[in-house]
Amino acid sequence: MRLNNILRLGLLLLCLSPATLVRAATVSISCGAVGIELEVCRDGAEAWAEKTGNEIRIISTPNSTTDRLALYQQLLAAGSADIDVFQIDVVWPGILHEHFIDLKPHIEPERLRAQFENIIDANIVDGHLVALPWFVDAGLLYYRKDLLDKHGFGVPETWEALTHTAATIQKTERAGGNRDLWGFVWQGRAYEGLTCNALEWVHSSGGGNIVDDRGEVIINNPAAVEAIDQAAAWIGTITPLGVLNYEEEQARGVFQSGRALFMRNWPYAWTLVNGGDSPVRGKVGIAALPRGEDGVHTGTLGGWQLAVSRYSGVRQEAIDLVRHLSSRREQKRRALEAGYNPTWPELYDDPEVRAAHPIAPTLRKVLAGAVARPSDVTGRSYNQVSNAFWSAVHATLAGKGDAAGNLALLERRLERIRRHRGW
Ligand code: GLC
Repeated sequence: MRLNNILRLGLLLLCLSPATLVRAATVSISCGAVGIELEVCRDGAEAWAEKTGNEIRIISTPNSTTDRLALYQQLLAAGSADIDVFQIDVVWPGILHEHFIDLKPHIEPERLRAQFENIIDANIVDGHLVALPWFVDAGLLYYRKDLLDKHGFGVPETWEALTHTAATIQKTERAGGNRDLWGFVWQGRAYEGLTCNALEWVHSSGGGNIVDDRGEVIINNPAAVEAIDQAAAWIGTITPLGVLNYEEEQARGVFQSGRALFMRNWPYAWTLVNGGDSPVRGKVGIAALPRGEDGVHTGTLGGWQLAVSRYSGVRQEAIDLVRHLSSRREQKRRALEAGYNPTWPELYDDPEVRAAHPIAPTLRKVLAGAVARPSDVTGRSYNQVSNAFWSAVHATLAGKGDAAGNLALLERRLERIRRHRGW
Protein backbone atom coordinates (compact mmCIF):
# COMPACT_ATOMS: atom_id res chain seq x y z
CA MET A 1 0.00 0.00 0.00
CA ARG A 2 1.36 3.39 -0.94
CA LEU A 3 1.93 5.90 1.85
CA ASN A 4 -0.91 8.28 0.89
CA ASN A 5 -3.31 5.33 0.67
CA ILE A 6 -2.35 4.31 4.19
CA LEU A 7 -2.94 7.89 5.33
CA ARG A 8 -6.33 7.93 3.62
CA LEU A 9 -7.35 4.68 5.27
CA GLY A 10 -6.24 6.03 8.66
CA LEU A 11 -8.31 9.18 8.14
CA LEU A 12 -11.35 7.18 7.12
CA LEU A 13 -11.14 5.02 10.24
CA LEU A 14 -10.86 8.16 12.38
CA CYS A 15 -14.00 9.60 10.81
CA LEU A 16 -16.09 6.51 11.56
CA SER A 17 -17.89 6.88 14.88
CA PRO A 18 -18.15 3.78 17.12
CA ALA A 19 -21.86 3.60 16.23
CA THR A 20 -21.17 3.23 12.54
CA LEU A 21 -18.59 0.54 13.18
CA VAL A 22 -21.26 -1.59 14.88
CA ARG A 23 -23.29 -3.61 12.38
CA ALA A 24 -26.81 -2.33 11.84
CA ALA A 25 -29.49 -4.46 13.44
CA THR A 26 -32.70 -5.59 11.79
CA VAL A 27 -35.63 -5.31 14.14
CA SER A 28 -38.92 -6.99 13.25
CA ILE A 29 -42.14 -5.59 14.52
CA SER A 30 -45.65 -6.99 14.22
CA CYS A 31 -48.20 -4.35 13.35
CA GLY A 32 -51.94 -4.53 13.01
CA ALA A 33 -53.40 -3.87 9.56
CA VAL A 34 -56.89 -2.60 10.36
CA GLY A 35 -57.68 0.37 8.09
CA ILE A 36 -54.43 2.28 7.47
CA GLU A 37 -52.77 0.95 10.62
CA LEU A 38 -49.94 -0.85 8.83
CA GLU A 39 -48.83 2.21 6.84
CA VAL A 40 -48.87 4.41 9.93
CA CYS A 41 -46.81 1.85 11.82
CA ARG A 42 -44.35 1.54 8.94
CA ASP A 43 -43.81 5.31 8.69
CA GLY A 44 -43.00 5.53 12.39
CA ALA A 45 -40.70 2.52 12.39
CA GLU A 46 -38.88 3.64 9.26
CA ALA A 47 -38.26 7.07 10.72
CA TRP A 48 -36.59 5.32 13.67
CA ALA A 49 -34.54 3.12 11.33
CA GLU A 50 -33.31 6.12 9.43
CA LYS A 51 -32.40 8.00 12.58
CA THR A 52 -30.48 5.09 14.10
CA GLY A 53 -29.01 3.44 11.02
CA ASN A 54 -30.82 0.19 11.76
CA GLU A 55 -33.25 -1.73 9.62
CA ILE A 56 -36.81 -2.59 10.14
CA ARG A 57 -38.96 -5.54 9.10
CA ILE A 58 -42.71 -5.05 9.34
CA ILE A 59 -44.77 -8.15 9.91
CA SER A 60 -48.46 -7.86 9.14
CA THR A 61 -50.75 -9.83 11.42
CA PRO A 62 -54.40 -10.97 11.15
CA ASN A 63 -57.05 -8.28 11.70
CA SER A 64 -59.00 -10.35 14.18
CA THR A 65 -57.59 -9.83 17.65
CA THR A 66 -58.45 -13.42 18.47
CA ASP A 67 -56.54 -14.84 15.48
CA ARG A 68 -53.62 -12.58 16.27
CA LEU A 69 -53.43 -13.89 19.82
CA ALA A 70 -53.40 -17.49 18.55
CA LEU A 71 -50.54 -16.67 16.18
CA TYR A 72 -48.52 -14.95 18.89
CA GLN A 73 -49.07 -17.81 21.31
CA GLN A 74 -47.75 -20.27 18.76
CA LEU A 75 -44.65 -18.21 17.98
CA LEU A 76 -43.88 -17.40 21.59
CA ALA A 77 -44.43 -20.93 22.87
CA ALA A 78 -41.79 -22.04 20.36
CA GLY A 79 -39.39 -19.35 21.64
CA SER A 80 -39.24 -17.94 18.13
CA ALA A 81 -37.02 -14.91 17.50
CA ASP A 82 -38.95 -14.01 14.34
CA ILE A 83 -40.65 -11.02 15.94
CA ASP A 84 -38.74 -8.69 18.25
CA VAL A 85 -41.44 -6.14 19.00
CA PHE A 86 -45.02 -7.30 19.48
CA GLN A 87 -48.06 -5.07 19.21
CA ILE A 88 -50.26 -6.48 21.96
CA ASP A 89 -53.86 -5.91 22.98
CA VAL A 90 -54.58 -4.23 26.33
CA VAL A 91 -56.19 -7.47 27.54
CA TRP A 92 -53.14 -9.66 26.90
CA PRO A 93 -50.43 -8.71 29.43
CA GLY A 94 -51.78 -11.29 31.90
CA ILE A 95 -51.79 -13.97 29.17
CA LEU A 96 -48.43 -13.33 27.52
CA HIS A 97 -46.29 -11.60 30.14
CA GLU A 98 -43.79 -14.43 30.65
CA HIS A 99 -42.58 -14.02 27.06
CA PHE A 100 -41.71 -10.33 27.33
CA ILE A 101 -38.91 -8.48 29.05
CA ASP A 102 -39.54 -6.08 31.93
CA LEU A 103 -39.33 -2.59 30.44
CA LYS A 104 -39.27 -0.78 33.76
CA PRO A 105 -35.48 -0.41 33.98
CA HIS A 106 -35.48 1.13 30.52
CA ILE A 107 -38.14 3.80 31.00
CA GLU A 108 -37.93 6.96 33.08
CA PRO A 109 -40.55 6.97 35.87
CA GLU A 110 -41.69 10.50 34.85
CA ARG A 111 -42.54 9.17 31.44
CA LEU A 112 -44.82 6.54 32.95
CA ARG A 113 -46.40 9.07 35.32
CA ALA A 114 -47.28 11.35 32.39
CA GLN A 115 -49.56 8.72 30.79
CA PHE A 116 -53.05 7.43 31.66
CA GLU A 117 -52.59 5.65 34.94
CA ASN A 118 -55.12 2.87 34.32
CA ILE A 119 -53.41 1.95 31.06
CA ILE A 120 -49.98 1.84 32.61
CA ASP A 121 -51.45 -0.30 35.39
CA ALA A 122 -52.98 -2.69 32.85
CA ASN A 123 -49.45 -3.31 31.57
CA ILE A 124 -47.93 -4.19 34.91
CA VAL A 125 -47.95 -7.86 35.88
CA ASP A 126 -46.18 -9.05 39.04
CA GLY A 127 -44.42 -5.68 39.23
CA HIS A 128 -43.03 -5.99 35.69
CA LEU A 129 -43.79 -3.49 32.99
CA VAL A 130 -44.77 -5.91 30.23
CA ALA A 131 -45.39 -3.34 27.48
CA LEU A 132 -45.60 0.38 26.78
CA PRO A 133 -48.96 1.87 25.78
CA TRP A 134 -49.19 2.93 22.14
CA PHE A 135 -52.80 3.98 21.66
CA VAL A 136 -56.05 3.71 23.52
CA ASP A 137 -59.49 2.82 22.20
CA ALA A 138 -63.09 2.97 23.34
CA GLY A 139 -66.27 1.96 21.54
CA LEU A 140 -68.16 4.88 19.93
CA LEU A 141 -71.43 5.49 18.14
CA TYR A 142 -71.03 6.78 14.58
CA TYR A 143 -74.14 8.28 13.04
CA ARG A 144 -75.24 9.83 9.77
CA LYS A 145 -75.95 13.47 10.60
CA ASP A 146 -77.63 14.09 7.26
CA LEU A 147 -80.13 11.25 7.68
CA LEU A 148 -80.99 12.14 11.26
CA ASP A 149 -81.60 15.77 10.21
CA LYS A 150 -83.62 14.79 7.17
CA HIS A 151 -85.98 12.68 9.28
CA GLY A 152 -86.07 14.99 12.29
CA PHE A 153 -84.37 12.69 14.81
CA GLY A 154 -81.72 13.52 17.42
CA VAL A 155 -78.72 11.41 18.39
CA PRO A 156 -80.16 8.55 20.48
CA GLU A 157 -79.44 8.66 24.19
CA THR A 158 -80.76 5.19 24.96
CA TRP A 159 -80.66 1.81 23.22
CA GLU A 160 -84.41 1.96 22.97
CA ALA A 161 -84.22 5.31 21.18
CA LEU A 162 -81.55 3.91 18.85
CA THR A 163 -83.76 0.94 18.03
CA HIS A 164 -86.75 3.16 17.30
CA THR A 165 -84.79 5.75 15.28
CA ALA A 166 -83.05 3.08 13.24
CA ALA A 167 -86.25 1.18 12.48
CA THR A 168 -88.15 4.31 11.45
CA ILE A 169 -85.46 5.82 9.24
CA GLN A 170 -84.59 2.47 7.67
CA LYS A 171 -88.24 1.88 6.75
CA THR A 172 -88.85 5.36 5.32
CA GLU A 173 -85.57 5.43 3.38
CA ARG A 174 -86.16 2.00 1.91
CA ALA A 175 -89.67 2.95 0.87
CA GLY A 176 -88.14 6.01 -0.84
CA GLY A 177 -85.76 3.86 -2.91
CA ASN A 178 -82.70 3.65 -0.60
CA ARG A 179 -83.20 -0.11 -0.55
CA ASP A 180 -79.86 -1.20 0.90
CA LEU A 181 -79.97 0.95 4.01
CA TRP A 182 -79.63 -0.76 7.40
CA GLY A 183 -80.20 0.85 10.77
CA PHE A 184 -77.23 -0.32 12.83
CA VAL A 185 -74.02 -2.24 12.12
CA TRP A 186 -71.46 -3.48 14.64
CA GLN A 187 -69.10 -6.42 15.31
CA GLY A 188 -71.05 -9.66 15.81
CA ARG A 189 -68.59 -12.33 14.80
CA ALA A 190 -67.63 -14.93 17.44
CA TYR A 191 -64.34 -13.25 18.53
CA GLU A 192 -62.96 -10.70 20.98
CA GLY A 193 -64.72 -7.83 19.22
CA LEU A 194 -68.11 -9.31 20.15
CA THR A 195 -67.03 -9.44 23.78
CA CYS A 196 -66.36 -5.68 23.52
CA ASN A 197 -69.75 -4.93 21.89
CA ALA A 198 -71.75 -7.12 24.27
CA LEU A 199 -70.00 -5.78 27.36
CA GLU A 200 -71.13 -2.31 26.25
CA TRP A 201 -74.80 -3.39 25.99
CA VAL A 202 -74.59 -5.07 29.39
CA HIS A 203 -72.60 -2.48 31.31
CA SER A 204 -74.56 0.50 29.97
CA SER A 205 -77.79 -1.23 31.05
CA GLY A 206 -76.74 -1.72 34.65
CA GLY A 207 -75.72 -5.37 34.17
CA GLY A 208 -72.15 -4.85 35.42
CA ASN A 209 -69.39 -6.96 33.97
CA ILE A 210 -68.67 -10.62 33.14
CA VAL A 211 -66.57 -11.11 36.26
CA ASP A 212 -66.28 -8.40 38.91
CA ASP A 213 -63.11 -6.96 40.47
CA ARG A 214 -63.12 -9.58 43.21
CA GLY A 215 -63.26 -12.41 40.69
CA GLU A 216 -66.96 -13.26 41.15
CA VAL A 217 -68.91 -14.35 38.07
CA ILE A 218 -71.73 -11.80 37.86
CA ILE A 219 -72.87 -11.98 34.23
CA ASN A 220 -76.01 -14.05 34.83
CA ASN A 221 -78.28 -11.18 35.92
CA PRO A 222 -81.61 -9.78 34.66
CA ALA A 223 -80.17 -6.53 33.22
CA ALA A 224 -77.59 -8.49 31.20
CA VAL A 225 -80.25 -10.92 29.98
CA GLU A 226 -82.43 -8.06 28.81
CA ALA A 227 -79.56 -6.22 27.11
CA ILE A 228 -78.48 -9.29 25.12
CA ASP A 229 -82.03 -10.24 24.16
CA GLN A 230 -82.50 -6.70 22.90
CA ALA A 231 -79.43 -7.03 20.67
CA ALA A 232 -80.70 -10.38 19.36
CA ALA A 233 -83.90 -8.63 18.33
CA TRP A 234 -81.89 -6.23 16.13
CA ILE A 235 -80.70 -9.08 13.91
CA GLY A 236 -82.71 -9.16 10.70
CA THR A 237 -84.65 -6.03 11.71
CA ILE A 238 -82.27 -3.03 11.97
CA THR A 239 -79.07 -5.08 11.65
CA PRO A 240 -78.22 -7.40 8.74
CA LEU A 241 -77.90 -11.11 9.48
CA GLY A 242 -74.37 -10.85 8.07
CA VAL A 243 -73.28 -8.96 11.20
CA LEU A 244 -72.86 -12.38 12.82
CA ASN A 245 -69.68 -12.53 10.76
CA TYR A 246 -68.59 -8.89 10.96
CA GLU A 247 -65.36 -7.63 12.45
CA GLU A 248 -64.45 -3.92 12.58
CA GLU A 249 -63.62 -3.58 8.90
CA GLN A 250 -66.81 -5.22 7.60
CA ALA A 251 -68.92 -2.87 9.70
CA ARG A 252 -66.91 0.11 8.45
CA GLY A 253 -67.28 -1.08 4.84
CA VAL A 254 -71.09 -1.04 5.10
CA PHE A 255 -71.23 2.28 6.94
CA GLN A 256 -68.65 4.03 4.79
CA SER A 257 -70.39 3.04 1.57
CA GLY A 258 -73.52 4.75 2.88
CA ARG A 259 -75.49 1.61 3.70
CA ALA A 260 -76.02 2.13 7.43
CA LEU A 261 -77.42 4.86 9.64
CA PHE A 262 -75.52 3.93 12.82
CA MET A 263 -72.29 2.06 13.42
CA ARG A 264 -70.49 0.95 16.57
CA ASN A 265 -66.75 1.12 16.03
CA TRP A 266 -63.41 2.28 17.47
CA PRO A 267 -61.93 5.74 16.88
CA TYR A 268 -59.71 4.58 13.97
CA ALA A 269 -62.76 4.65 11.68
CA TRP A 270 -63.20 8.42 12.04
CA THR A 271 -60.34 9.45 9.76
CA LEU A 272 -61.33 6.82 7.20
CA VAL A 273 -65.05 7.62 6.99
CA ASN A 274 -64.00 11.23 6.44
CA GLY A 275 -61.27 10.36 3.93
CA GLY A 276 -61.13 11.99 0.48
CA ASP A 277 -62.65 8.93 -1.23
CA SER A 278 -65.34 8.25 1.36
CA PRO A 279 -68.93 8.56 0.10
CA VAL A 280 -70.05 9.68 3.58
CA ARG A 281 -67.30 12.24 4.11
CA GLY A 282 -68.59 15.22 6.14
CA LYS A 283 -71.93 13.51 6.85
CA VAL A 284 -70.88 11.65 9.99
CA GLY A 285 -71.01 12.51 13.67
CA ILE A 286 -69.80 10.58 16.71
CA ALA A 287 -71.18 10.30 20.21
CA ALA A 288 -70.93 8.12 23.27
CA LEU A 289 -72.79 4.84 22.80
CA PRO A 290 -76.38 4.81 24.07
CA ARG A 291 -77.29 3.60 27.56
CA GLY A 292 -80.10 1.51 29.02
CA GLU A 293 -83.09 3.28 30.59
CA ASP A 294 -81.44 3.47 34.03
CA GLY A 295 -77.86 2.98 32.92
CA VAL A 296 -74.89 5.16 32.07
CA HIS A 297 -73.05 5.78 28.82
CA THR A 298 -70.06 3.55 28.38
CA GLY A 299 -67.69 2.11 25.83
CA THR A 300 -65.35 -0.83 26.19
CA LEU A 301 -61.78 0.19 26.90
CA GLY A 302 -59.43 -1.11 24.22
CA GLY A 303 -56.02 -0.26 22.96
CA TRP A 304 -52.62 -1.55 21.97
CA GLN A 305 -49.19 -1.69 23.53
CA LEU A 306 -45.67 -2.54 22.44
CA ALA A 307 -43.70 -5.34 24.08
CA VAL A 308 -40.19 -6.69 23.54
CA SER A 309 -39.78 -10.43 23.14
CA ARG A 310 -37.56 -12.30 25.56
CA TYR A 311 -36.32 -14.33 22.58
CA SER A 312 -35.19 -11.30 20.58
CA GLY A 313 -31.57 -11.31 19.43
CA VAL A 314 -31.58 -7.49 19.17
CA ARG A 315 -33.01 -6.48 22.52
CA GLN A 316 -31.37 -3.09 22.90
CA GLU A 317 -32.50 -1.93 19.48
CA ALA A 318 -35.97 -3.37 20.05
CA ILE A 319 -36.27 -1.43 23.31
CA ASP A 320 -35.12 1.71 21.55
CA LEU A 321 -37.72 1.22 18.82
CA VAL A 322 -40.47 0.77 21.42
CA ARG A 323 -39.34 3.94 23.19
CA HIS A 324 -39.48 5.82 19.90
CA LEU A 325 -42.88 4.54 18.76
CA SER A 326 -44.60 5.04 22.10
CA SER A 327 -43.11 8.51 22.62
CA ARG A 328 -45.30 11.57 23.02
CA ARG A 329 -44.02 12.96 19.75
CA GLU A 330 -44.75 9.86 17.69
CA GLN A 331 -48.16 9.45 19.32
CA LYS A 332 -48.95 13.02 18.32
CA ARG A 333 -47.97 12.27 14.73
CA ARG A 334 -50.20 9.21 14.73
CA ALA A 335 -53.08 11.22 16.20
CA LEU A 336 -52.72 13.93 13.56
CA GLU A 337 -52.28 11.62 10.62
CA ALA A 338 -54.59 8.76 11.43
CA GLY A 339 -56.65 9.65 14.48
CA TYR A 340 -55.09 7.14 16.89
CA ASN A 341 -55.83 8.14 20.48
CA PRO A 342 -52.72 9.00 22.45
CA THR A 343 -52.01 7.51 25.85
CA TRP A 344 -50.66 10.88 27.01
CA PRO A 345 -53.60 12.88 28.45
CA GLU A 346 -51.95 16.25 27.74
CA LEU A 347 -52.14 15.57 23.98
CA TYR A 348 -55.94 15.85 24.13
CA ASP A 349 -55.49 19.55 24.91
CA ASP A 350 -52.84 20.09 22.29
CA PRO A 351 -54.08 22.82 19.89
CA GLU A 352 -52.88 20.97 16.78
CA VAL A 353 -54.52 17.70 17.84
CA ARG A 354 -57.74 19.57 18.65
CA ALA A 355 -57.74 21.38 15.32
CA ALA A 356 -57.21 18.15 13.39
CA HIS A 357 -59.67 16.20 15.53
CA PRO A 358 -62.70 18.12 16.66
CA ILE A 359 -63.83 14.84 18.27
CA ALA A 360 -60.93 14.86 20.79
CA PRO A 361 -63.05 16.25 23.70
CA THR A 362 -65.79 13.61 23.11
CA LEU A 363 -63.14 10.92 23.01
CA ARG A 364 -61.59 12.07 26.23
CA LYS A 365 -64.99 11.88 27.95
CA VAL A 366 -65.77 8.43 26.56
CA LEU A 367 -62.35 7.18 27.63
CA ALA A 368 -62.92 8.44 31.15
CA GLY A 369 -66.16 6.44 31.40
CA ALA A 370 -64.89 3.35 29.60
CA VAL A 371 -65.48 -0.11 31.02
CA ALA A 372 -62.51 -2.49 31.25
CA ARG A 373 -62.82 -6.15 30.34
CA PRO A 374 -61.97 -8.41 33.29
CA SER A 375 -58.47 -9.23 32.05
CA ASP A 376 -56.68 -8.05 35.19
CA VAL A 377 -58.64 -10.23 37.54
CA THR A 378 -58.80 -13.34 35.31
CA GLY A 379 -55.15 -12.99 34.21
CA ARG A 380 -53.93 -15.90 32.09
CA SER A 381 -57.49 -17.30 31.85
CA TYR A 382 -58.90 -14.13 30.27
CA ASN A 383 -59.09 -15.54 26.75
CA GLN A 384 -61.04 -18.58 27.95
CA VAL A 385 -63.41 -16.30 29.86
CA SER A 386 -63.92 -14.00 26.90
CA ASN A 387 -64.36 -16.96 24.54
CA ALA A 388 -67.08 -18.41 26.77
CA PHE A 389 -68.82 -15.01 26.87
CA TRP A 390 -68.70 -14.25 23.15
CA SER A 391 -69.86 -17.82 22.36
CA ALA A 392 -72.91 -17.46 24.63
CA VAL A 393 -73.74 -14.08 23.10
CA HIS A 394 -73.18 -15.29 19.55
CA ALA A 395 -75.49 -18.27 20.12
CA THR A 396 -78.19 -15.91 21.39
CA LEU A 397 -77.78 -13.57 18.43
CA ALA A 398 -77.99 -16.53 16.06
CA GLY A 399 -81.27 -17.63 17.65
CA LYS A 400 -79.79 -20.69 19.40
CA GLY A 401 -81.55 -20.29 22.71
CA ASP A 402 -82.33 -17.08 24.55
CA ALA A 403 -80.14 -14.94 26.78
CA ALA A 404 -81.62 -16.31 30.01
CA GLY A 405 -80.72 -19.89 29.12
CA ASN A 406 -77.38 -19.05 27.53
CA LEU A 407 -76.19 -16.83 30.39
CA ALA A 408 -77.11 -19.53 32.92
CA LEU A 409 -74.97 -22.00 30.96
CA LEU A 410 -72.23 -19.40 30.66
CA GLU A 411 -72.17 -18.90 34.41
CA ARG A 412 -71.57 -22.62 34.94
CA ARG A 413 -68.91 -22.68 32.25
CA LEU A 414 -67.09 -19.73 33.80
CA GLU A 415 -67.19 -21.33 37.24
CA ARG A 416 -65.63 -24.44 35.71
CA ILE A 417 -62.85 -22.41 34.09
CA ARG A 418 -62.26 -20.72 37.41
CA ARG A 419 -62.03 -24.06 39.22
CA HIS A 420 -59.78 -25.75 36.66
CA ARG A 421 -57.53 -22.98 35.37
CA GLY A 422 -57.95 -20.55 38.21
CA TRP A 423 -57.92 -16.80 38.55
C1 GLC B 1 -59.69 -2.98 19.13
C2 GLC B 1 -59.31 -2.71 20.58
C3 GLC B 1 -58.87 -3.98 21.26
C4 GLC B 1 -59.96 -5.01 21.12
C5 GLC B 1 -60.28 -5.26 19.66
C6 GLC B 1 -61.43 -6.23 19.50
O1 GLC B 1 -58.57 -3.29 18.39
O2 GLC B 1 -58.31 -1.75 20.67
O3 GLC B 1 -58.57 -3.73 22.61
O4 GLC B 1 -59.62 -6.22 21.76
O5 GLC B 1 -60.60 -4.06 19.02
O6 GLC B 1 -61.72 -6.48 18.18
